[in-house]
Amino acid sequence: MEQLKVKIGKLILENPVLTASGTFGTGEEFEDFLDLDKLGAVVVKGITLKPRDGNPLPRIAETPSGMLNAIGLQNPGVDIFIKEKCPVFLKYKVPFIVNISGYEEKEYGLLAKKLETVAGVAGIEVNVSCPNVNYRHGMIFAKDPLAVSRITRLVRKNTKKTVIIKLSPEVSDIKVIARAAEEAGADALSLINTISGLAVDVETRRPKIASIIGGLSGPAVKPIGLRCVWQVYNTVKIPIIGMGGICTYEDALEYLIAGAAAVAVGTGNFLDPQSTVKIVDGLKKYFILNKIKNVAQLTGSLRLFNN
Ligand SMILES: Cc1cc2nc3c(=O)[nH]c(=O)nc-3n(C[C@H](O)[C@H](O)[C@H](O)COP(=O)(O)O)c2cc1C
Repeated sequence: MEQLKVKIGKLILENPVLTASGTFGTGEEFEDFLDLDKLGAVVVKGITLKPRDGNPLPRIAETPSGMLNAIGLQNPGVDIFIKEKCPVFLKYKVPFIVNISGYEEKEYGLLAKKLETVAGVAGIEVNVSCPNVNYRHGMIFAKDPLAVSRITRLVRKNTKKTVIIKLSPEVSDIKVIARAAEEAGADALSLINTISGLAVDVETRRPKIASIIGGLSGPAVKPIGLRCVWQVYNTVKIPIIGMGGICTYEDALEYLIAGAAAVAVGTGNFLDPQSTVKIVDGLKKYFILNKIKNVAQLTGSLRLFNN
């Protein structure tokens, strides 16, 4: 459906519904449940330079209207990923966006460089905001506008592919961080990543997650995601991929109206592996019923009480 097409950087997506990194594997895992080519794009699980086992178990806990996770970026490392996973992307028409994470700023540049010539990789989502790993300075890069700026520039220098910077809501002013990424050359922004939280087992008095603190996601975080998207939409010109608690097409519409050009579904994939395609279908019906000509007509169309 032509009306659902959106442009994110150099990419023209068939529709504005993406998968959120870390909740959809590399896509293959969901093949039995849905036709991947019905999605706008597949954003794959976070990749690092070296292989990682991730954090100790347990690393997932259910919470009211959401979940905590502290997977800790378990992945085979970029070289094995390129050799074994990327060739599979070529089977599909849907663009694959690779999510990258680093411990040192320079690793982001190296990752972008390695992925630059890989066929089937349409874009790079730069995770500067994972709360589940201990960075060298004990702080996520996404909290520091200068670090976000340096990392964005480094990735930009090493790739011509679409560069999306993924931000954290756990900052004092997300507008400042968003502006830093835009000025440094980001094509688009993804927001939000998870929000750090704690759950306690009262019988054992242990945290429900071995690494104590995990990242909260799911419907519980939706109002925070919407708030961030609205603030950033009013600050930058580049497109925003909104995420956080999207499970239905109405959730997706809320994000578009708040300012997102596209949306991503994360925890919703665990509740219903077909939620992404159901959201696409729901949007199609809504567009026809309300005679919406294109996604841009909805993006940022929030009607305020004073006008
Ligand atoms: C189990 C799990 C693993 C995740 N792994 C990653 C990751 O590797 N890289 C990343 O940028 N975000 C990761 N995220 C964050 C999601 O992509 C998304 O930003 C967040 O969960 C909010 O969306 P949701 O409420 O729809 O899940 C992960 C989230 C979950 C629940």
